[in-house]
Amino acid sequence: MFESKSGVFFIAGLAFFGFAFLSNALVPAMMYRDLPEKKVEELVNPNLRYQFEDLAQRFPESFKKVYGEPPTDSAEASKWYDAKITDALRLGRKVYVGEACWHCHSQFVRPVSNEDLRWGPVSTSEEYQNELQRPVMFGTRRVGPDLSREGGRRSNDWHAVHFFKPTDLSEGSPMPQYPWFFDGSADKPNERGLALITYVQWLGSWLESYPYYEDYIESPVAGITLEGDAAE
Ligand code: HEC
Repeated sequence: MFESKSGVFFIAGLAFFGFAFLSNALVPAMMYRDLPEKKVEELVNPNLRYQFEDLAQRFPESFKKVYGEPPTDSAEASKWYDAKITDALRLGRKVYVGEACWHCHSQFVRPVSNEDLRWGPVSTSEEYQNELQRPVMFGTRRVGPDLSREGGRRSNDWHAVHFFKPTDLSEGSPMPQYPWFFDGSADKPNERGLALITYVQWLGSWLESYPYYEDYIESPVAGITLEGDAAE
């Protein structure tokens, strides 16, 4: 067996498998076993809350239909918003998985090919240590852009129109239309639509440089270098 070519490949294959298991599974598991995994409740942050309240203002009818109205007392309202955002994030992630958005979008800015210039700070392991990344949404390939820093890049109504009919905003886009996120038209997102927009706005909302793209969009046009944000 050891003299034949196939024998050598067989043994090498086993060795590579063992090495990959060690470096990609055992070592990371041991490195992060003491890092607590965040629950969705802990992922709500002021940036996201801002976006969610913005949803309520832009789509008052749809919002009220799905979530009802916030209590008038401000402390109660705060708790109410947190609870609704938590629900929206859980559902939004489910929709993201169910609609296979991850077939076309990654959620991982790699430390190669100057990806940070295009998409923002390189992803770090603790960003994945939470319930919404179980299993991780790294994605499989990139037909569309990476979405790790999508939060705050576009407005809520931009997303609504884009999900309703991507080609209305991006000529020739191969992204599918999702009319079933709406009760008829782009200004009437339903529960799944509102949840998915919330989820997309959450991506990167935990970063200090949020919204990452506010400066970034301007720079290539104006010819300004990307120092500051990109240096992160
Ligand atoms: C067939 C591949 C494909 C699928 C499936 C797909 N997208 Fe896209 N998506 C793209 C492409 C290509 C673009 C870039 C062109 C455009 O803006 O439409 C894009 C753009 C986007 C953008 C805008 C990024 C930006 O700021 O420019 C968001 C957000 C987005 N997709 C979210 C989603 C979500 C959420 C889903 C699942 C409901 C999804 N996509 C499904 C291909 C896809």
